[in-house]
Amino acid sequence: MTLYNRSCISCHASGSAGAPRTGDATAWAARIDQGREMLLKRTKSGWIGMPPMGMCTDCTDEQFIDLIEYMAQSKITKP
Ligand code: HEC
Repeated sequence: MTLYNRSCISCHASGSAGAPRTGDATAWAARIDQGREMLLKRTKSGWIGMPPMGMCTDCTDEQFIDLIEYMAQSKITKP
């Protein structure tokens, strides 16, 4: 996961600033439940401690979805 290692990891590995940690399915469950559209919106425009684009300014929507599913270790089933 090259993209993860150069962006999301800096906060989502340690959980700094309250970021849901990679692999912590419990912390991610309610967020994943918001569905694809809301997750993408917050990832791209930023959300509380989460910086816009999560420091991956050239990531596509599909790549963000892959990254979120990787961190949450679950599939985003809601649109
Ligand atoms: C500078 C630190 C930082 C980086 C880098 C970062 N995040 Fe986050 N992220 C956060 C924090 C803090 C939160 C929790 C925000 C909150 O309080 O709800 C968060 C929350 C999220 C959420 C959940 C939003 C919600 O609806 O609750 C998603 C999705 C997310 N990050 C995706 C990503 C992706 C994808 C990347 C890499 C491309 C990334 N983040 C990189 C800090 C970061």
